[in-house]
Amino acid sequence: MNFDERLKNVSVVGAAGKMGSGIALLLAQEMTRQKLLPENKNSIYRLHLIDINEAALDGLHRYLKAQLVKAAEKTTVMLRELYKDREDLVENYDIIGAFVDDALSVVRLGTDLNAVKNSHMIFEAVVEDKNLKVDLLKKIDQLTDSNTFYFTNTSSIPISVLNGEANLGGRIIGFHFYNPPAVQRLVELISPDSTRPELKEMALELGKRLRKKIVFANDIAGFIGNGHFLRDGLYAIKEAKKMAGEFTLPGALYIMNKVSQDLLLRPMGILQLIDYVGVDVYHCISETVASYIKGEDLKDDLLAQMVERKVLGGQYADGSQKDGFLKYEKNRPAGVYDIEEGEYKMFDPNGWSGELDRKLGDYPQGTIPWRKLLTNPKREEKLSQYFKNLNASDTLGAKLAKAYLKKSKQIGEFLVETKVASSAQDVNDVLLNGFYHLYGPINDYV
Ligand SMILES: NC(=O)c1ccc[n+]([C@@H]2O[C@H](COP(=O)([O-])OP(=O)(O)OC[C@H]3O[C@@H](n4cnc5c(N)ncnc54)[C@H](O)[C@@H]3O)[C@@H](O)[C@H]2O)c1
Repeated sequence: MNFDERLKNVSVVGAAGKMGSGIALLLAQEMTRQKLLPENKNSIYRLHLIDINEAALDGLHRYLKAQLVKAAEKTTVMLRELYKDREDLVENYDIIGAFVDDALSVVRLGTDLNAVKNSHMIFEAVVEDKNLKVDLLKKIDQLTDSNTFYFTNTSSIPISVLNGEANLGGRIIGFHFYNPPAVQRLVELISPDSTRPELKEMALELGKRLRKKIVFANDIAGFIGNGHFLRDGLYAIKEAKKMAGEFTLPGALYIMNKVSQDLLLRPMGILQLIDYVGVDVYHCISETVASYIKGEDLKDDLLAQMVERKVLGGQYADGSQKDGFLKYEKNRPAGVYDIEEGEYKMFDPNGWSGELDRKLGDYPQGTIPWRKLLTNPKREEKLSQYFKNLNASDTLGAKLAKAYLKKSKQIGEFLVETKVASSAQDVNDVLLNGFYHLYGPINDYV
């Protein structure tokens, strides 16, 4: 069965989650575009969106509707071509409305797993729990025919483990979207030797259709993205603990977050990123990767404590940030969690946090916020000048930033040495496209 045939009946399991909902949106658009082609006029397209959380499915319906409108508004020229035979559609809003209606007529939302039975492509995006994923894959495989292909969004579990334990005979591939799937360009593709060649080809075709940048990662727990993110985040937490005697733990966490954003020129500080992904998700990645990779310290008890206290980060249904390591006001960090006190210590520019800012010292000349550099046509030149100035500076902030950059580079090189990534370019591509860094970790800046 070829790719286009498979694309006529697709299921997403875990569809109401953060990742599942974005994957559903992308698939709904592509399946609708296919449905509108003259040669597919008589075909039925079905996208089954399955989740155990019924209330979240209501939210998914609203999300899809709103996002389909936005997506259609951006592609009216292409949609006009698809609807060229529909003389009744004159204005842009007619075309947009028709596309949204057509897309929503493709989707079927529900809690019943039996809906997968005629699907030949199944996307798995349930929580990061190996036993849950294996049980679910086994169940689905009994409901579907023996030719079904699985695309798992696991962030850290080796694909060969899922393939072996669920007994899928190579019909599973790691198709690792980044968060949020509709926005992030990157997909990490994990195709171990066990994966059937025709599935790998289909995954590449899917990547093209969804306009994703594909980077291959080898089948080692955490892959490239989380292989870097996990070690990078643990470094910050462990450094903060070392500095806690001098600055208190909340103070040291504040410092590491600030240095990783302002002086590494990243889109957000490392603790803000952990909160964005979810402290529980990050903890889960750490536990999973640590269970497969021995001889390396890939855990920290602060993470377990945060999860135990239910200080979890993540997002509310409207996309705003929940409190985690940091407290957020209007989606901006405004405080830091004090694990000893069990409460947030609010930033105080005229008090403790202002004092820490002074201790970090002046920023090197040429420090530009990430957002401004992102679109700057002279970005490479500006980066190179900035890092020269950073290297020449010996403020506390500059010292911490240089040590952090070295660590990040070391992690990148380690991923190449241990064959998680095939090249330095692949590591850099993942950080540039999946994390929106301005430069790859393997660079000559440090
Ligand atoms: N959050 C991220 O930034 C991110 C990024 C890349 C990959 N991932 C991976 O994507 C997957 C999903 O993560 P998420 O962050 O979207 O999680 P999430 O908790 O937001 O969503 C998981 C969804 O799965 C549903 N679910 C749980 N058990 C189910 C079952 N038995 N049947 C059907 N649905 C079930 C839940 O109700 C929930 O809606 C995980 O494997 C995660 O590691 C997450």
